[in-house]
Amino acid sequence: MSRGPLNLLIDTLAAACLLTMVATGYVLRFPLPPATNRTHELWGMSRHEWGTIHSWASLGLLLVLIIHLVLHWDWIVTMIRHRFACFQGGGANAGRHAGLATMAVLVALAALFALAAHFGVREREVPLHPLNELPGQPSSAASAPKPPRVTTVDFWKEIMPVFQTSCIECHGPTRQTSGFRADQRENFFSPRDGAPLVVPGDAAGSRLLDIVSGKQPGMKAAVAHHLPPDEIQLLKTWIESGADWPTR
Ligand code: HEC
Repeated sequence: MSRGPLNLLIDTLAAACLLTMVATGYVLRFPLPPATNRTHELWGMSRHEWGTIHSWASLGLLLVLIIHLVLHWDWIVTMIRHRFACFQGGGANAGRHAGLATMAVLVALAALFALAAHFGVREREVPLHPLNELPGQPSSAASAPKPPRVTTVDFWKEIMPVFQTSCIECHGPTRQTSGFRADQRENFFSPRDGAPLVVPGDAAGSRLLDIVSGKQPGMKAAVAHHLPPDEIQLLKTWIESGADWPTR
């Protein structure tokens, strides 16, 4: 193949790679932005597959550019010789050496970058998005199932009635024995004698369960605090699932 058609072919390939890069880059930025990989696709391909095309197109462009440089080697050498007075005395060879040196520096820079990137990858201490909570994602049938909640307990329907029937008469609006009120949120969650009654998610660390199951040592009026096992279990489930106490 003579020079003309070969150059045309190389330039066409370069243009094709560049356009592919721009198009796939657009797809990766706008229609399929980060974090959509597991939930969305475009024309049958996921964000990950579009990304693969994107990176191969850029490698292709790099390869074509290198061929382009080789094809225009003589032109580059002549250019350098004319530009820099210091090589003019040395004849053709000096220009050639300068061209080679330039190429060597470029290749070394590329290799350094690749190495630094390869060894620079670190695992984040805290993942940006836990796998189950993708930000701004409409939940679709394809998305992963939500993490299982232990059990949902409705505070106002199931928990407050227990306090209402078993605690309020001594710890409510009329009497506040021990300065404790079972109808006020802060009384359960702020520290009493060093530890709060309820630690969300931590049943073992929640004194409330000890009090209502007779396990708190030296508890005064212990009998008045005993709850039936099913209510103790209910309080335990409520605490384990986060001790939600929504405002009404
Ligand atoms: C019949 C009255 C009565 C009922 C009903 C009652 N308590 Fe008490 N409560 C007491 C008495 C008496 C004390 C001890 C006061 C003292 O320390 O002198 C006490 C103390 C407490 C304390 C403070 C002890 C500590 O370790 O912090 C908490 C908390 C408490 N009760 C929670 C409850 C809860 C929750 C319920 C409902 C499940 C409840 N009480 C039901 C009378 C009652």
